[in-house]
Amino acid sequence: ADEPLILGIETSCDETGVGIVRGHTLLADALASSVEEHARFGGVVPEVASRAHLEAIVPTMDRALTEAGVTLADIDAIAVTSGPGLAGALLVGVAAAKGYALAAEKPVYGVNHLAAHVAVDTLEHGPLPEPAIALLVSGGHSSLLLVDDLARGVTPLGATIDDAAGEAFDKVARLLGLPFPGGPPIDREARAGDAASIAFPRGLTAAKDLAAHRYDFSFSGLKTAVARWVEARQRAGEPVPVADVAASFQEAVCDVLTSKALAACRAQGIETLVIGGGVAANSRLRAMAEQRAEKYGIQVRVPRPKLCTDNGAMVAALGSHLVAAGVAPSRLYLPADSALPL
Ligand code: KG4
Ligand code: ZN
Repeated sequence: ADEPLILGIETSCDETGVGIVRGHTLLADALASSVEEHARFGGVVPEVASRAHLEAIVPTMDRALTEAGVTLADIDAIAVTSGPGLAGALLVGVAAAKGYALAAEKPVYGVNHLAAHVAVDTLEHGPLPEPAIALLVSGGHSSLLLVDDLARGVTPLGATIDDAAGEAFDKVARLLGLPFPGGPPIDREARAGDAASIAFPRGLTAAKDLAAHRYDFSFSGLKTAVARWVEARQRAGEPVPVADVAASFQEAVCDVLTSKALAACRAQGIETLVIGGGVAANSRLRAMAEQRAEKYGIQVRVPRPKLCTDNGAMVAALGSHLVAAGVAPSRLYLPADSALPL
């Protein structure tokens, strides 16, 4: 119990999260979501998200402290997502972190949201072997990262050149008349469908694309292919086999994600693949990654679904890692940076 007690604040998108950890042990993970307020718009509305964070931040903070059975005075450091994300949403978390830090005389650590998605796995599986490859797939990001040293930063190997993987799930769900966010209903529908029934394209996997885009992703062509397929059915007056479309679409996304992530591991001789972000909650992605990795002796680490989507615990986990590594805290004029690089 000598390890420092770290509180993490997350407000980069539509989840207000406050997590508390000691070392790799999760003590509290309080969450307030504005996802239902965005559902009727089919995507996150920045102004609505900012206002919701403003209303939720103090009660969520109080809930986390109560859940962990500690007070602000017991906390050793406060970590907060300083980017990337929605500018107004980030500002609420950063301002709150600074306010609490100033009032309680605690150091504050501004952390990168993507690195936090990687760090959260340590709460479930312990220290991350380095180097590792990280596949980060969420509503806002799809990236392959080389994690040499999580405390000093990570190296991007590739990213999406158009839509993020989660965005593709959300758009295809909308097309199929499924609710927002689209990942969970597609995951559910797909279980009853035939993943081999429709051959949807695998973006940037052809030899000519691989030369220039080895570890990049593209999902907009896939989304368009699904739209065309569905429209053709509707024009012909035939019913749309939702489960088959969902399963075939999901199969294409998971195929691309796992083959590129495992190619990166093998090219660099790396034996650990960690997967994070909201799409890492996808049941087919988890199963396919494990199945394919086994052939190469690569270990796949995916945290439980609740830790994959945005939360405060991931920010606390990265803060804890930074403190343990002796990294200096941020200055109190720490800005929110919507395009914060890794
Ligand atoms: O990491 P996250 O909570 O927020 C961002 O940082 O974007 O990710 C949200 C995204 C949404 O696009 C949602 O549809 C997707 O993660 N998602 C899923 C699943 N659960 C959430 N995608 C596929 N399968 C799922 N089970
Ligand atoms: Zn995220």
